Amino acid sequence: MARKDFIITGLDIGTSFVRAAIAKCSTENGIEIIGAAVKPSQGMKKIVIVNKSEVTELVRATVESAERDAGMEVDSLHVGISGGHVNCCTTAAVVNNLDADDTIKEKHITNLIENARANSAERGREAIHEITQEYRLDGHAVEENPVGSAAGRIEARVHMVTADRTIMENHGRVINDAGFRIAGMCWNVIASGLSVLSDEEKKEGVLLIDIGGGSTGYAVYFNNTIYLSNVFAVGGDHITNDLMIGLNIRADEAEDIKKTYAKKAVTADSNPSIIKIGMPVKNNKSLPKADIEMIIESRVDELIQFIKSDVVDKGFYSLIGSGIVFVGGSTHLYHFKDKTRNYFGKPVRVATPLLNMPDISTSDLNIYSDRHEFLRDPSCATILGLLKSGYNLRLAELKKSIGFFDKIFRH
Ligand SMILES: Nc1ncnc2c1ncn2[C@@H]1O[C@H](COP(=O)(O)OP(=O)(O)OP(=O)(O)O)[C@@H](O)[C@H]1O
Ligand SMILES: [Mg+2]
Repeated sequence: MARKDFIITGLDIGTSFVRAAIAKCSTENGIEIIGAAVKPSQGMKKIVIVNKSEVTELVRATVESAERDAGMEVDSLHVGISGGHVNCCTTAAVVNNLDADDTIKEKHITNLIENARANSAERGREAIHEITQEYRLDGHAVEENPVGSAAGRIEARVHMVTADRTIMENHGRVINDAGFRIAGMCWNVIASGLSVLSDEEKKEGVLLIDIGGGSTGYAVYFNNTIYLSNVFAVGGDHITNDLMIGLNIRADEAEDIKKTYAKKAVTADSNPSIIKIGMPVKNNKSLPKADIEMIIESRVDELIQFIKSDVVDKGFYSLIGSGIVFVGGSTHLYHFKDKTRNYFGKPVRVATPLLNMPDISTSDLNIYSDRHEFLRDPSCATILGLLKSGYNLRLAELKKSIGFFDKIFRH
């Protein structure tokens, strides 16, 4: 395929931050970030839009800020879908009676996916991803896409990610009201996986966990596909809330304590087991460090145990050959990696999304920038993955249109 250039813009509306990134993409050089912006979220609660006009303004302001950074305007966005309204399930689908020559064609795979969608259809829900786990042709398992193979019957297990239609429509309205069009959508956890997981990890089996502000999502990858995923409406903001209630302090004080208690200066005459907050003379409060640690640890403990039990109970823990990969802003919690390692008995890493310098070109999906250092953070895995997801979608469209013109000119 001849080199093609196009622009992709990603938008991640998170509970803590809204992030936008604009990339100049080329089928030869990969994805170059030319503009990016991050703004604190307002009007969101557990990823549900509670104040539409506030979120509309925020989306407009964030994308406009990225546009100014890029020195260009954009009109369509690849949007991340997140929150507790997302559901994940696996369903079986079958297609019988192929054409007379028994050769599997793209249309049979489309029928298979439609069949899976119909099996898992629920009132008021919209499918956002259909991921094929494994195919069986006339009862025999095959690992690769079976298009071109011969069979009379195709069976598949398809992992479905669906979202609440009303919430999706509200997201769509907010983006349209902000003056943009939706070019594509991707579940945030899948987007994060695109920016931090290696092909080897996805082949050998990996558990990806994204702990954001208002939600935690996970996905189990094995054999380069997703076998299990789930999302819970619990995240780092719940730790802040627990500290606020447990220590009887304000929300901003609790957020500050959560992020800085381990680094608070300890002077020679101060007691290292006490953290002081507020002005030294007025409103000065002394908080026992052990209480802060206990509150944070109990919430992290509960969340991680919950995810592990969910994966174990559903029978997929043994698929995780290469280990656990964490992303999301809450991974900045003090000693997060050391604390979470104890739960799994498998290698654990906190991942920073790959953002290379312009001269390092390793593959056509290289993401690079020489000035957006702030995106090199576990909380930015989703926004960088959304650029990759947009790139993949555009590439598939280009290949399809080339196939179409090829056919016209050949006949
Ligand atoms: N240094 C830090 N220490 C502890 N927690 C932190 C730190 N920095 C950020 N966080 C927490 O990370 C969370 C935000 O993470 P992130 O930016 O990934 O959220 P989000 O993508 O906006 O949310 P979601 O994905 O749930 O919609 C907040 O709860 C915030 O308090
Ligand atoms: Mg997030």
